Amino acid sequence: MHCIKKIKDDLFWVGANDRRLAMFEGVYSVARGVSYNSYILIDEKTVLFDTVDKAVQQRFIENTEHALKGRKLDYLIVQHMEPDHSASLKELIKRYPGIKIVCNEKTKTLIMQYFELDFNFDKDAVIVNENDTLNTGKHTLKFIMAPMVHWPEVMVTYDTTDKILFSADAFGTFGALNGALFADEVDIEKDYMDEFRRYYANIVGKYGDQVQTLLKKASSVPIEMICPLHGFVWRNNFSSIINKYALWSAYQPEEKGVMISYASVYGNTENAAEILASNLREKGIKTELFDVSVTHSSEIIAAAFRWSHLVFASTTYNAGIFISMEELVNDLVAHNIQNRTVAVIENGSWAAVSGELIKKKLEQCKNIKFLNQTISIKSSLKKEQLSEIEEMSKTIAKDFPETAKDDASENVSSDLKPASIDPNAMFKISYGLFVLTAKDGGKDNGCIINTAIQITVSPLRIIIAVNKANYTHDMIIKTKAFNISILSESAAFHIFEQFGFSSGRDNDKFKDDKIIARSSNGIRYINENTNCMISGKVIDSYDYGTHTIFTGEVTESIVLSNEKSVTYQYYFDNIKPKSVAQKSEKKGFVCKICGYVHEGDSLPDEFVCPLCKHGASDFEPL
Ligand code: FEO
Repeated sequence: MHCIKKIKDDLFWVGANDRRLAMFEGVYSVARGVSYNSYILIDEKTVLFDTVDKAVQQRFIENTEHALKGRKLDYLIVQHMEPDHSASLKELIKRYPGIKIVCNEKTKTLIMQYFELDFNFDKDAVIVNENDTLNTGKHTLKFIMAPMVHWPEVMVTYDTTDKILFSADAFGTFGALNGALFADEVDIEKDYMDEFRRYYANIVGKYGDQVQTLLKKASSVPIEMICPLHGFVWRNNFSSIINKYALWSAYQPEEKGVMISYASVYGNTENAAEILASNLREKGIKTELFDVSVTHSSEIIAAAFRWSHLVFASTTYNAGIFISMEELVNDLVAHNIQNRTVAVIENGSWAAVSGELIKKKLEQCKNIKFLNQTISIKSSLKKEQLSEIEEMSKTIAKDFPETAKDDASENVSSDLKPASIDPNAMFKISYGLFVLTAKDGGKDNGCIINTAIQITVSPLRIIIAVNKANYTHDMIIKTKAFNISILSESAAFHIFEQFGFSSGRDNDKFKDDKIIARSSNGIRYINENTNCMISGKVIDSYDYGTHTIFTGEVTESIVLSNEKSVTYQYYFDNIKPKSVAQKSEKKGFVCKICGYVHEGDSLPDEFVCPLCKHGASDFEPL
């Protein structure tokens, strides 16, 4: 039975997932499976973008047939001839006589090398070059050569009509799709980035220059969607993956931290690696350790593309480097690792040479800075060598001035006053006040927030901070959409009461509201006593304990008036009734936001106002 995914009215994913494959390309474990993506465009002409691996051919054929709905297949664009994308080519030619293959000269050569086909290239192939186009009716497809991303024949296709980049292997990942298709349907950073990195580093890591060339070409056209041959389709938030590609292809580390890989026969080299990692962590430096004998090199290569500093600790074996470490170092050199700081620990019971040999191999890579000190262990680490490990960690820590706690920071001058925190300082920050609205099914809700800021212009994004106790917060977590209405100075106190002093879980905050305004995302907004409305689609969120920070892509914005935005200070000075904050004979604390009074001698730090959900820091004594 077919299993296709609609991308646009005339574009469908007809690929398949494989969770039984043990080793991708015979070398990379894919414990989480892999997807082989093929796309079909149903225009005046029908166009298939690549095929799939032979393991999932049956599903792909069913999908293609279903999407065609009895029409013939006019074109097959072969962007990449590696068999995980071309294995079903022969079957397609058999099933769809008259099909035209669109490819470049290098692809044609590879097709003829791989297959004995009953196909007349002179008559039925469309051979394309850089920037050639193919009109299929409504769509015009442009071909862009991308040699060595990942093979020499690779090209990508740009749909100039819908601004879609069919990106071949670029921007792909290991991992089956698990029912999703779009990157924004899953948590890429949390659940998939390690696999994106492992895929990039191992599949195209060696070809950074060629990836940069492709990135440059892609940046010259507007892109609204990216459809790769593995993994998810990107329809927004492109920068999150493009920025990673920019770093990886320039061989720049993603993060400051130390990757320590060790090869240890009887645990003594491992012991040295563990002590070094522990020392570094005590200095506030991030570390990741790998035993090269049990972790596949594809994982370690990916980590090497991530971290800024690399430590190799290896025993000496057969007068050389220990086998699994030698393989790792060879692999790193083959994948062109660059721009890293490297330290070495060697072990040898009678003739330790692994350290020098590792260095010699890595000297072939560009811009590798070696630490002068190589720690040489004889069989096992001795007490007197702990100082060498400490020295190595101190030398590395010099590159981490922002986190490292060294001797200097421990001897802070005694004339400096101890740091203190005055909560009133927070009130000097200029805040606005906003009605945040969301909708879950038939239920509308809203609350008052004071933190909403624009963070980028292109793409246009805002962030908002929302207290988790608010019902609106839970709606946004679920629906990933919200509006903010920016309150203006004409806003009366009753608006703050309506949205700030009760919970939408217990009542309908819009019950008596005669004004019904909805933006195109279907969510209500406040169109009186406000000066604008902004709609956000959540692309990211961060859990900060009491609050969640949501990053939203702006999907709509409307200016409603030219009145000044209300500030927190303006609210206190001009809107909030003075009586609620007046001194009282009672003992207790009053919420500076809504006036709620908590009676008693003390207020617990974790206290949250039951009306407006502000914390203890927003209370003052009566
Ligand atoms: Fe997914 Fe280079 O093939």
